[in-house]
Amino acid sequence: MRQSFELVFASSNKNKYKEAGQILRQFGIRLKFYNFSPTEIQSDLIHKIAIKKALDAYARCKKPVIVEDVGLFVKSLGGFPGPYSSYVYKTIGNRGVISLIKRNRSAQFLSVIAYCDHKKRPVAFEGITNGSISTKPKGGGWGYDPIFIPKGRNKTYGQISDKNQISHRYRALENFARWYCRRQSSGR
Ligand code: IMP
Repeated sequence: MRQSFELVFASSNKNKYKEAGQILRQFGIRLKFYNFSPTEIQSDLIHKIAIKKALDAYARCKKPVIVEDVGLFVKSLGGFPGPYSSYVYKTIGNRGVISLIKRNRSAQFLSVIAYCDHKKRPVAFEGITNGSISTKPKGGGWGYDPIFIPKGRNKTYGQISDKNQISHRYRALENFARWYCRRQSSGR
């Protein structure tokens, strides 16, 4: 019989939690939401931010926990907004990002999922989806969904129904889930 595990997902973003819950269910992992707004460190490395978030989240909830940090990297902008994606979304938004891009529209979404438990040695897993930035916002979704077109498609994340099968979040969570389930089964 397939084992089932329960984990805490610490975030202030319910959209991320909903998507992560749907994705991890396929791997036999159920998620509980823990509302958590970390004081984000200023770093140009998404991995560093995620690791620090995981330690802080564990210190608060005292249960095995995962957190996520995401960056949208636009090639012709030298990787901007990258680790500043959240601030840039809140300030200039999707239309602001579009207006900055004059040439190559290639972009990449990076998700880092970090896991932490009582050992306090966080482990990070990354997922990347390549794509491009649309010339105007299209479709629904949340955050940058209306402007990100995954490679091989001609529609934005906000216009497709299978985002959770191809997204940066899916890829990072798949890496995490394979590691976590193996580790749980081996009793370590
Ligand atoms: P965060 O710092 O990890 O919360 O994410 C950085 C920015 O990317 C925030 O503005 C999020 O709304 C946005 N973001 C993260 N994941 C996604 C996604 O799957 N679709 C669209 N926007 C996202």
